[in-house]
Amino acid sequence: MEVVILPDEQAIANAAADIVKRQVVAKPNTVFGLATGSSPVAAYREIAKRQNSGDFTLSDTRAFMLDEYVGLPADHPQSYAAFIRSVFIDHVDMRDDAVRTLNGMAQDVPAECAAFEFEIAQAGGVDLQFLGIGSDGHIAFNEPGSSLVSRTRIKTLTEQTRIDNARFFDSVSDVPRHVLTQGLATIMEARHLLMLVNGESKAEAVAACVEGPVSAMCPGSIIQMHPRVTVLLDEAAAGKLALEDYFKEVYAHKPDWQRWNTS
Ligand code: GLP
Repeated sequence: MEVVILPDEQAIANAAADIVKRQVVAKPNTVFGLATGSSPVAAYREIAKRQNSGDFTLSDTRAFMLDEYVGLPADHPQSYAAFIRSVFIDHVDMRDDAVRTLNGMAQDVPAECAAFEFEIAQAGGVDLQFLGIGSDGHIAFNEPGSSLVSRTRIKTLTEQTRIDNARFFDSVSDVPRHVLTQGLATIMEARHLLMLVNGESKAEAVAACVEGPVSAMCPGSIIQMHPRVTVLLDEAAAGKLALEDYFKEVYAHKPDWQRWNTS
């Protein structure tokens, strides 16, 4: 796992855009896994800016979403389908049909989840998976207690996550209780995991995820078992890491050939 501590959100966004550029230059038909939440928004903005300036193209790429609220149609402003369009897809040259969202209105939930998994496999798997982390350690919507080998399925949100996400709704009671989410095993099959986190409110979850025991109590900790993970943090989110100084030293002395912005 590479843990990189950067000064602020824009530095995280710049690094994420460098990683995306290197990825799409190497593989123009990259398959992305896209996360919602506020954490990746600055990165999406930076990627769109660079794509629009002609730095690279995303025209051959496609994407799979991490999760979706049950009961919200795709055109509901708080659905993740609508969110990802408004913060990213509408601003880049990806094809309109290039993003596979999860259908939160599906009548047959197991069939929708199985079809989603099948389509990821048909696409050859996810190359670069964006991730954030919830304050309770969830990734996508895999709440504490999630099976570490789970696949795409329905989950019930914790009260904490509903409170955290209430800021996007009129009130907590408007936040759906149920969600569809890629499972932890689904996420772990992506070739490269890119976690972006900022802010002090995430410091504890980050420490548990990066340095704690691998446990279903902190679902994000499963990424310790992945061979290729990049975690981009601001100083505040890194504040509770025991290895903070070491991570900084590693990054300061990263060999040139390993740097992202060499392409
Ligand atoms: C949401 C999403 C996650 C996201 C997390 C953190 O509930 N389902 O994919 O990583 O919570 O969100 P934020 O970045 O807004 O703090």
